[in-house]
Formats: sequence, C-alpha cells, structure tokens
Amino acid sequence: MGKVYYISKNVGLGMFVLAICGLATIIALSVAYDKEKSKNQGNVGDGESDSTSTTTPSTTPDTPKEPWDHYRLPDSLIPVSYNVTLWPRLKPNAEGLYIFTGHSTVIFNCVKETDLIIIHSKKLNFTTFFGHHAKLSSQDDTPVPTILNSWLVKKTEFLVIQLGSRLSAGASYSLYTEFLGELADDLEGFYRSEYIEDGVKKVVATSQMQATYARKSFPCFDEPAMKAVFTVTIIHSRDTVALSNGKEKGSLDKQNHFSFLFFSPTRKMSTYLLAFIVRSKKNSPAHIRIWARRKAIDDGQGNYALNVTGPILRFYEHYYNTSYPLSKSDQIALPDFNAGAMENWGLVTYRETALLYDPILSSTGNKERVSTVISHELAHMWFGNLVTLRWWNDLWLNEGFASYVEYLGVDYAEPTWNIKDHIILYDVQKVFAVDALAFSHPLSRGEEEVTEPAQISEMFSTISYSKGAAVLRMLSEFLTEPVFARGLSSYLNTFAFGNTVYTDLWDHLQQAVENTPGIHIPHSVEKIMNHWTLQMGYPVVTIDTRTGSITQKHFLLDPDSTVDRPSQFNYTWYVPIKWMKTGVEQPQYWLLQKTVSGEDWVLANTNVSGYFRVNYDPDNWDRLLSLLNTNHQAVSIINRAQIIDDAFNLARAKIISTTLALRTTKYLSKERDYIPWESALRNLNYYILMFDRNEVYGAYLKKQIQPLFEHFKTITSNWTRVPTGHTDQYNQINAIGIACSAGVEGCRELIKSWYREWMKNPNRNPIHPNLKSTVYCYSIAFGGVAEWDFAWSMFKNATLASEASRLRSALACSKIPWLLNRYLEYTLDPTKIRKQDATSTIQNIARNVVGMPLAWNFVKARWSYIFQQYGKGSFSFSNLVSGITQRFSTEYELQELKRFKEENLSVGFGSATMALEQAIEKTTANIKWVTENKAEVQQWFAQEST
Ligand SMILES: *[C@@H]1O[C@H](CO)[C@@H](O)[C@H](O)[C@H]1NC(C)=O
Ligand SMILES: *[C@@H]1O[C@H](CO)[C@@H](O)[C@H](O)[C@H]1NC(C)=O
Ligand SMILES: *[C@@H]1O[C@H](CO)[C@@H](O)[C@H](O)[C@H]1NC(C)=O
Ligand SMILES: *[C@@H]1O[C@H](CO)[C@@H](O)[C@H](O)[C@H]1NC(C)=O
Ligand SMILES: *[C@@H]1O[C@H](CO)[C@@H](O)[C@H](O)[C@H]1NC(C)=O
Ligand SMILES: [Zn+2]
Repeated sequence: MGKVYYISKNVGLGMFVLAICGLATIIALSVAYDKEKSKNQGNVGDGESDSTSTTTPSTTPDTPKEPWDHYRLPDSLIPVSYNVTLWPRLKPNAEGLYIFTGHSTVIFNCVKETDLIIIHSKKLNFTTFFGHHAKLSSQDDTPVPTILNSWLVKKTEFLVIQLGSRLSAGASYSLYTEFLGELADDLEGFYRSEYIEDGVKKVVATSQMQATYARKSFPCFDEPAMKAVFTVTIIHSRDTVALSNGKEKGSLDKQNHFSFLFFSPTRKMSTYLLAFIVRSKKNSPAHIRIWARRKAIDDGQGNYALNVTGPILRFYEHYYNTSYPLSKSDQIALPDFNAGAMENWGLVTYRETALLYDPILSSTGNKERVSTVISHELAHMWFGNLVTLRWWNDLWLNEGFASYVEYLGVDYAEPTWNIKDHIILYDVQKVFAVDALAFSHPLSRGEEEVTEPAQISEMFSTISYSKGAAVLRMLSEFLTEPVFARGLSSYLNTFAFGNTVYTDLWDHLQQAVENTPGIHIPHSVEKIMNHWTLQMGYPVVTIDTRTGSITQKHFLLDPDSTVDRPSQFNYTWYVPIKWMKTGVEQPQYWLLQKTVSGEDWVLANTNVSGYFRVNYDPDNWDRLLSLLNTNHQAVSIINRAQIIDDAFNLARAKIISTTLALRTTKYLSKERDYIPWESALRNLNYYILMFDRNEVYGAYLKKQIQPLFEHFKTITSNWTRVPTGHTDQYNQINAIGIACSAGVEGCRELIKSWYREWMKNPNRNPIHPNLKSTVYCYSIAFGGVAEWDFAWSMFKNATLASEASRLRSALACSKIPWLLNRYLEYTLDPTKIRKQDATSTIQNIARNVVGMPLAWNFVKARWSYIFQQYGKGSFSFSNLVSGITQRFSTEYELQELKRFKEENLSVGFGSATMALEQAIEKTTANIKWVTENKAEVQQWFAQEST
C-alpha cells in the first residue's frame, strides 16, 4: 500500500483533501504500453514519506481453545479457485441502505482430514440452505459430508461449518454461498464513494482489500499465502462500467438494463490484491489507462501520470529483469480513499492528490508526490504482487522494498531532479527519530506475533516503510547495485506467482554474491542483515581520530530510558562504513581499526549509505565545523545534512553538547541547498516546539535566513519567476516561510499583497502553486476573520484535490481561538470535512501553537466518539495521538496525558495504543530536556544573535 502521507512535505505535499464539487464522470486517458525493454542504465534512488506509528506487538494472553478462536486459518484446506459474482446497488434500497449481493463458489483442496470448514467472512448476511450458510459438493466421486451446523464468529471474522464426517485428505470440494453486504462509506472492503455532478449525487462502488477486508466482500480464505485464481463476474447497470483485476472477457445484457460482465480468470494471486469497481461509463481499450473525473481529464490532470507510467514500468522491467506480468495497467483516482494508494494488481487505486497533476495549478511538490506514489505502487506489481510474502509479519520487506525502489523509478523518469538524495530526508532521518526510542520494535516479527486484524494494521508503520527502505538501500550499497539487482531478479523468477518469507530474498542475494568474483562481505547476507532486521534500533559509531579507535553503541535518544526488549545480538551490528579522509574516499570497511593523523578531517558514512549515526572526537568535530564555515562545498549535500542531523540527535542523547549541535547551523548563512536547510529546520523545529513561548531563537534564525531570502529574491527577479532547479523550488518555499515567521523585512508585506490581490479577484489567483501553502498559511495566521472565511469558501469551491488540501491545512494556521474551535467542530461533520480527512485536520490544528491546547481538549472530550468513527483499522489513526502531543513538555501536560489514558481505558486506543505509550515517553523526555538545556540554549542564541 502507499504510505499514508501526513507531515507536509514542504509544498503541502501530504495534505489531502478532496474536491467535493465539480466532479463529473470518471473517464480514462490511455496509451499503448510498449513492453519492449529499454536501454536504461539502471539508476538508484529514493523516496517520499510519511505515516508515523511505531508499535510493538500486543501479545494475546489467553490461549484460545477452539480452532475458530484463533485468528489464523487452520492448515487443513487450501483454496484453488473462486468464481465470484457481485452486484453492487448504486441506489439505496427501501430502508435507505446501499447494499451489494453476491454468490461465490470456492474450490479447495483438503490437505489434512477435518470435519470443519473455517473461512473468513465479515459483516455479510447469508442466504441459508436447509438452515445452513453454504452448500458443499465434491469435485470428484468422493462422498460429500453433510453439514451439521454452521455459524459466524464475529471476533475472528469466520464462517464456521461443522460437518457430520471428515473431508478426505487429497480430495477437492466446492463450497457455494449466497450473501448480502452493505456497500457502506467506510472505505473498507467493497465500499461506496460519493461525489456531486451537476448538482446530483453520484455513487461509485470501489474496493480496498488490504489487509483484511476481502472477507467483507465475499467469504474467502483471506490470508496472503492462500493464493488462488479468481474468476469474477460483476453485475452492473448498463450506464456504468465495471473494472476488476482481470481483463473483460465478455458480457451478457439482460432486459432489465443490467449487464453481466465476465472477467478472465486472474493469475494465481492473494485476496488482498483484489479490486472491484463500478462507475459511470466511458471506456477505451489500451494497455495503460488513467481514470479520473471527466473534468480532471479534460483539464489535463491525468497527463503527467500517463507520461511517467510507461518509463517507470520500463525501468522496473529492466531493474527486475522480468517483464511486466500483466496485459494492462489501469490506475484510477478516487474521491474517497483511505490510504495514499493501493497496489491492486493491474488496477491501482489512488487518492486524487496522488495521481492527478494540473500543469497550471499544481506545485512541484504535487508533481513529485504523483511520480513517487506511482513509482511505489508500480514497484509492487512485481515485488509484492507477482511474488507475495506469506504473511503480514513480513510486511516490512514488501513496503520497505517499494519505498526504496520508488526513488529509482522516479529518477529514471525525472533524471534532473536528483530525487535519490531525498531518501535521506523522507525516510532515513525520519525513521532515525522513531527508531531511537526504547519503545521501538524490530523490522521483522514472528508470524505468531501478528494475527489479529488490529495487529496487522499496526504493521503499516514508519518502521516498516522507512527503516525497511533504509536498510535495503544500505544492503544494495554494500553489495553494489548490479549484484543486488541480480539477486532480486533470481528471487522474482524463482517464486513468481508464489509466496515467500524474507529469508528467501537473503538466499538469492547470497547466491548473487557467490557468483560474483571480487565482492567481499565479512559474513553471509543473512547473518549481516539479521542484526538490522531482528533487533530494533541502530548504532552510533564513534570515531576517535586521535587514537584511531572505532566503537559502536545502541543509539537511544533518551540516554536514561531503559530497553527492556532483549536482543540476541546484544544491540551490536555489522556496520559497513564508507568514509573519506580530507576529501579522499577510502575503501569501505567493517569496523576495523584505522589510524588517522592530527590535521586530517575524517567524515564517515559518506553518501549516508549506512543506517547509523556517527560521532567523533572533539578535535575532528572542530575540523568538520571549520570546514563547513570555510568551504562547505567540500562536503556533499547529503553529508552536510547528515552532520547537522547527527549532531542534533547526539546532543539530544547527551553524547555531545547542545552548543556543539547548534554550532553546525552557523554556516547556514552561506548554505543555498535545500537538503541541508531542510534538515536543519526540522531539527531547529524541536527548539521551536519546546520554546515557542519565547522568541529567543527568532533573531538568530532571522540572521541566518536573510541571505537565503535575498538570494531567491535576486534569482527570481523580485519574485516574478520561480527558480529552475527542482530542489531550489523547495528551498525557495523554506526561505519565504522562515523569513516571514522570523520577521525578515519585506516578507510579510510581500505575501499579504499576493493574498489581498487574490481576495479582490477570486477567479484569478496570482500566487504560484509552489508558494500557495506558505502564502495561505501565513496570510491566515497574520490575518483575521475575512482571510479565514475567504479561504473556507475557496476550499468549498476547489475542484483540484491538492488545492483543497492546501487550503484545508492553511485554515488551521489562524491564531484566533474561536475560529480554531469552530474548525475543530467542522472536522466531525462529514458535510464540511470529509471523513478521510478528519484526523489529519485535527493534527494540522494541533501543529499551531494556539491550536494545540484546543485540539487536545477537543480530542479528550470526544475520544470515545472519535475512536468509534475513526479508530478502527485506520492506518493513520495513531498519528493523531503523536501529532497532538508533540509539543508536550510540562509536568502538567504529562499528568493530563496519564489521566487521559486512565479515563479511556474502557474505550480503548486501538491502533493508537503504542502511540500513546510513546507520547508519554516523549513528554517525559521533553520535560527533562527543557529543564537541562533551557539556560544553555537561550544563552547561545542570545550571544549568536548580535
Ligand atoms: C466458474 O466459472 C467458469 C466460467 O464461467 C465455469 O467454466 C466453471 O465451471 C465455474 N466453476 C464453478 C465451480 O462453478
Ligand atoms: C444483515 O442482517 C442484520 C440482522 O438481521 C440486519 O440488521 C442488517 O441490516 C443486515 N444487513 C444488510 C446489509 O441488510
Ligand atoms: C507529457 O508529455 C508530453 C510529450 O512529451 C509533453 O508535451 C507534456 O507537457 C507532458 N505533460 C506533463 C503534464 O508533463
Ligand atoms: C550478550 O551479552 C551477554 C552478557 O554480557 C553474553 O553472555 C552473551 O554472550 C552476549 N551475546 C552475544 C551474541 O554477544
Ligand atoms: C527589484 O526591485 C528593486 C527595487 O524595487 C530594483 O532596484 C531592482 O532593479 C529590481 N530587480 C529586478 C531584477 O527587477
Ligand atoms: Zn506499498
């Protein structure tokens, strides 16, 4: 699945709202995809970001007694194929309910004698046959047992059929069911999405099966290893079109305006990758199709997706050395969608913001988001779909892999962007923050630790996506990319249409190493990688250039926290270190002794290819800082970002002084590149969060940002153009945002004049799309009710999803409490804020210093309602708790948090359970940090501001 994007990625990436109005028929753009292999050279790269939950597995204390009390299926029956017919009604029935009906025949093999059939089913009502939920027959002459009894188990989501005698091992049977379900607007399983067209409400039936919702559409063996062939038939009215994973094979029209659409049998695949869609008509036969609202297609919003899909598929065919496994690629933008996107095989579904790009109205950030999400989802067409991990405990490999190679795919399609460097900001540094907590968890978990649907949902965490990406990138770097790609290709070819466990990949990479002369690694791939995947956390490597000693230690952000999770490796790692001495790259080594002389500066982890932090002796730190101040370009862009990020985090962990960390920002008045600035701003943001009631850092920031602001003013000819470089465009946004908040002369006047001009003439927005998020936010923050109301009306009228999303975030920037309180109320009213956007809007409000206490009170008071509405199975829910509490740094706030936990124990916290524990841990650490550092920090800023 695509990541759930939260934290805004500069330009308002990661804010999602969907346009409510002006929607029209969903239609397709298409091109033929030439499957010929390209001559691509093979690039490597990086990605995009953001969902933040880290979790540890909950253990189930009671031992279940009956087979149907276990969450996992017994191993007695294996499905072979399904014939599924589904008929969604796009109009409500007499009771006002939207429903679908269906019937399904599943053929399965019995591999162990049993008198029980246990199959997943959730929220389905069954037609009964002689009082039972199903009919059983055999595929051959084997006698068929009679059904004694059948019942549904709500907790474990099973239909259980008790037979009068045993099924014979080796025989196959077929089970027929007829059922009815609600086509709810709950974004799970087979669900409905609504929009308004010409003042009339339209309904689309669509689906999201991952992880455990296929069972809500039809009874099925709903585990990823239970691969089968699916022959789907969809009944739909003739003015609509049906889509599914397979290719349309034929249709049969009935007199009553309905049509049966038969799809060809799929390849052998997992249930979670199924997709069914019924929507308004318009079709065209071709290989690559982009589906969206007619207006969006007419405005050219699908063109960019269409442009990049072909090159990205070609890149993966080359990289995986395996041709695209399907005959077509459909990608559809949907008005209601919970995740960022979903990699259904051959029919990928997206939020509109993740697929549509308007050449005039969208920003550079929007464009990067579209290309990275497409690249991520298409990576899964092979890795994940063609070869599927056996069970959800290995999800990290599926998602981590796609999160790594998505950068490579985009780099091929957009070679001028240097996108591969972005993995440092959007994955590596992001997950470093989470994985440095004593409450983190290992990438890999035992199969038995992940059984319940809520535990499966918890697997979709930053650790799985971003740490997965970071360690796979490290692996590819130390094996070298050609070796990595060869192992990968052999893995995909061996297991095509089958299932694997993560060690299968290690085995194939190991074979690739052994078949390549000249590659030397100190241990097997598996042994090295076990240290990174089976224990949580990562090391800080300390290099003492005076003695030549090199040591490693588990890096913990809070040095006083205790780790009670034991590790078989005692928190040590095999660390591949790439390094340079006085500008000269040295051979990679694995924690060996090196001696360096006194005047040389040493920089380790070049290109940040390893998943670890680096500390040095004070003399080498001084040499690095003096190098930055005199000739910062001697250090690569991402290593400048690394020096800053490592120093700030080492200071948080009390390994170096806070003053040393702050000194890494002194050279920034000369820095013009985006990645180091972004890294510094994220780290300084902690100081802003902790000290935002006093302005001591303001003067320093103003002094440092002023030259950057002037630089962009010059290169854009007084703000009349945008910079040409991809990352320069991002840095211009930072320059304006920070300059305005720090009060650089001319900045606020500049943005206010743009916004005023727009208010005068709402049909002509003079603000460049890149700058909109920043300009809207600061105009609303420095403005009053008129500015807010104007933005609200533009939000309600927005026809472009990303524009609506920017406005929705900006509305949270107001400093007027009653406006923010009213906005909070709006979040629980789906006619004002779409349900999928409710929790992220509350988080936006909490990010604002004025809004934080309001949002906290709001969530506290309505916890049980919010939890009921949004807490179940939502991948983003845990972010609500971590988002709201990120500024907590007082004893009073800690007590509030603990009281909140006590008072809501009976309601529960669902997938936010671990986020709440982490919030308590983080608040405790914040209190300590503020107490210990306040005086030093204030003094340093005061002295440097003059
Ligand atoms: C499933 O459908 C196919 C095609 O309609 C048909 O040939 C086959 O017999 C069906 N199988 C079962 C078990 O109903
Ligand atoms: C399923 O049956 C239950 C109990 O009879 C009923 O409340 C529910 O509305 C039914 N579901 C649908 C979608 O009709
Ligand atoms: C798509 O590609 C065409 C042809 O190269 C180009 O003219 C057009 O500008 C591209 N569209 C977008 C939105 O990038
Ligand atoms: C871990 O540390 C313990 C105690 O210090 C020691 O007995 C054990 O051998 C160590 N294990 C490894 C794998 O180093
Ligand atoms: C920018 O504006 C300043 C003062 O308004 C003017 O002196 C300067 O020539 C302008 N620069 C450009 C490139 O237009
Ligand atoms: Zn994914």
